[in-house]
Amino acid sequence: MDSRIYINNDWLFTPKFDESMISGKLSAARIKKDFSVVRIPHSFVETPLNYFDEKNYQMVAGYRKEFVTDKAWKNKRVFVTFEGAAHKAKVYLNGELLGVHSSGYTAFKFELTELLAPEGKNNILVVELDSRESVDAPPFGFVIDYLTYSGLYRDVYLEVKNDIYIEDVFVKTQANHIDAEVTFGNALSEDCDLHFRVLKWEKDVPEKKLEVVMEADSHVTAGEEKTESVTSSFVAGKVSFWSPENPALYLLETSLISGDKKVQDVSTVRFGFRTVEMKDEGLFINGNKVLLRGLDRHQAYPYVGYAVPKSLQEMDAEILKNELCLNAVRTSHYPQSQYFIDRCDELGLLVFTEIPGWQHIGQSEGWREQCVRNVQEMVLQYRNHPSIFLWGVRINESPDDDELYVKTNACCHELDSTRPTGGVRCIKKSHLLEDVYTYNDFVHDGTNMGTEKKENIMSEPHAPYLVSEYCGHMYPTKIFDDEIHRTEHALRHARVINSAAGQNNTGGSFGWCAFDYNTHGQFGSGDKICYHGVMDMFRNPKMASLVYASQQDNVPVLDVSSSMDVGEHPACMRGYNWIFTNADSVKMYVNDKFITEYKKEDSQFENLPHGPILINDYVGDRLEKEEGYSKGLSKQMRKILNYVAMNGQNAFTLKEYLTIAALQLKGKNPGEIRRMYDKYVGAWGGDSIVFKFEAIKDGKPVKTVYKGPVEAVFLNAAASKLVLHEENSWDAAAVRICMKDQFGNVLPYYSEAVSLKVTGPVELIGPEVTCFRGGVCGTYVKTTGKKGKATLVIQCGKYESRLEFIVK
Ligand code: GAL
Repeated sequence: MDSRIYINNDWLFTPKFDESMISGKLSAARIKKDFSVVRIPHSFVETPLNYFDEKNYQMVAGYRKEFVTDKAWKNKRVFVTFEGAAHKAKVYLNGELLGVHSSGYTAFKFELTELLAPEGKNNILVVELDSRESVDAPPFGFVIDYLTYSGLYRDVYLEVKNDIYIEDVFVKTQANHIDAEVTFGNALSEDCDLHFRVLKWEKDVPEKKLEVVMEADSHVTAGEEKTESVTSSFVAGKVSFWSPENPALYLLETSLISGDKKVQDVSTVRFGFRTVEMKDEGLFINGNKVLLRGLDRHQAYPYVGYAVPKSLQEMDAEILKNELCLNAVRTSHYPQSQYFIDRCDELGLLVFTEIPGWQHIGQSEGWREQCVRNVQEMVLQYRNHPSIFLWGVRINESPDDDELYVKTNACCHELDSTRPTGGVRCIKKSHLLEDVYTYNDFVHDGTNMGTEKKENIMSEPHAPYLVSEYCGHMYPTKIFDDEIHRTEHALRHARVINSAAGQNNTGGSFGWCAFDYNTHGQFGSGDKICYHGVMDMFRNPKMASLVYASQQDNVPVLDVSSSMDVGEHPACMRGYNWIFTNADSVKMYVNDKFITEYKKEDSQFENLPHGPILINDYVGDRLEKEEGYSKGLSKQMRKILNYVAMNGQNAFTLKEYLTIAALQLKGKNPGEIRRMYDKYVGAWGGDSIVFKFEAIKDGKPVKTVYKGPVEAVFLNAAASKLVLHEENSWDAAAVRICMKDQFGNVLPYYSEAVSLKVTGPVELIGPEVTCFRGGVCGTYVKTTGKKGKATLVIQCGKYESRLEFIVK
């Protein structure tokens, strides 16, 4: 029926494939010498965090799994599915080649039936897996700005079917109308019935307990020609529509019933009722306009590359939706884990997914055919996900190639009439063979416009358009860069999304990128990391993440770009500092003295619901209150003090000289101005100051942030989850670690060594000793097949933090 038998455990792995492992017994001595026992998801090697040779994981390795033919498989058909094998897999059963698959980013399935050993006997399933970049298939053939890693890095499972079975059900919806396109695994030669049930899906509720929304039957006449697929149409009554705000999901259960009334197969797929249209004016979901605010995501993690289990895939979707408050993600530059997309469906995170590739189009026939096959596999495997609103059917940033892209578009449209196609370019006025012009707009350099006008990009000014990347290489930023750099990074993201939001004839934008990632030597900072994320590789937030996190109204956000330490800026200036908040206003205090209240409307990012707000007053009315200045005098002095605080004293324009002259006429000479500056703004060696920022929403304080001298240091660790599950495979928790001051601010220059120790049935992924970078670091705890209690002890000098886990 619809049940998978996961075979993720007890694989033998050798980094050096050799034909003698395809069949026959392996001696214990040979196993000991050449193999290790591994679990899927698996990566050929663990890579260091940075500074490594990416050839280390490129090789032809071998996997071997033995399993016994079950009694229940008699007269059945048995299939094996590999969800992801990087990158060219030759699969053998009992010595015979089952088939070859040449893309590391889509699933593939082979039938085992004919080659299975007799009941009760052992089968040998072997995968010869080539992860070298010499594989003649996308994304290979030229340099690539990401690592392609290695391994059987997604689930492997068996399925047992009757002679006739359901191969696929594609659910197309229009309002509450369903067209269910049912494809049979074996063309039907006799009449059958299909019984459909629509269930309202709810998280963690067993299928048996879900509400049945609708049931329908349909008769399939085999006809003279054998029937390979049928489309049944029905109306589902009152349903909730899927949208980013209300990601309502349903299940379609399809039972295939043969003439003798026996249920031959049951397939259950999850879907949502929703329509997608990309028009000149933008994206419409169920007829409602949605402005995309998204980031690009690579599916890579420190040390293990792509090989992480379900929960870490889900975690990324949760971070994007709940922490960065985005409504969209682009799975650059390949289809990503079904677990990730499933979670996007559940969270209402719109997905733009695309075929594997990076700038290069291969010229061999095999490469080009594989490219079209990748479209086919992507669409067939992912088309029931309501979160996917757009298919990318061009190689990212490749030149025009009409011969190839006419085919990829046609293939996609034939398999899915419900969504538009796009294809990411970095060239203007290229041939628009797709439905949407998706463009990487890197125009913003910190001094100019945030985005280009779409009319300047496309030859067809009224075609649908969206920005598929911005920022990225224009301003790489490490989490341990200085404050000015991190602030500019954040502001560039703000300028671009502000500009994109100001254009009412585009779908919106995706920024480069969500997380830092390992890359080839030709890119990145020389240490094999591209520091383009708004989070680091461990998903620790950089300042730029605040720009995104504050564009929502549910959870109060408040932070300030500066630690308010004078040594962070040239000439001890305070510089240009910004408030990131989604509050109505923010009150600023200096040593508990009220200075000013910044209003949401003060933000110069006029198109954002909550743009960053410039801090431009350090003085307030203190001169009147504390020095007895008149209103007029106070205004002039305040102006000069704030000007110097932000720009320094060597940057006066005529305006400032005139104000200074006016102050002098009133008896306030430069010495006095200096004294006032030291007293009220704070200077090199002056009194220590605690700044307080208080966010006000609906008239009430909702969040307070303090910036002041560090008096105490705290080690902080948070795990993505504390209950781990040994289910279809191993499980893992991501642990984000940081050093904070007594106010809860991360200490950006804390860089001491950290030791990580686990006890109980878990292991660490990565080293046992690491160090803080930018005041943060991270690790991963993975299960080992056993259940029970486990502990992670994080130690940094005298500071210690313990996390207690339960493995179920
Ligand atoms: C784009 C490319 C991305 C990444 C980015 C860096 O050109 O599509 O993969 O390399 O630049 O900014």
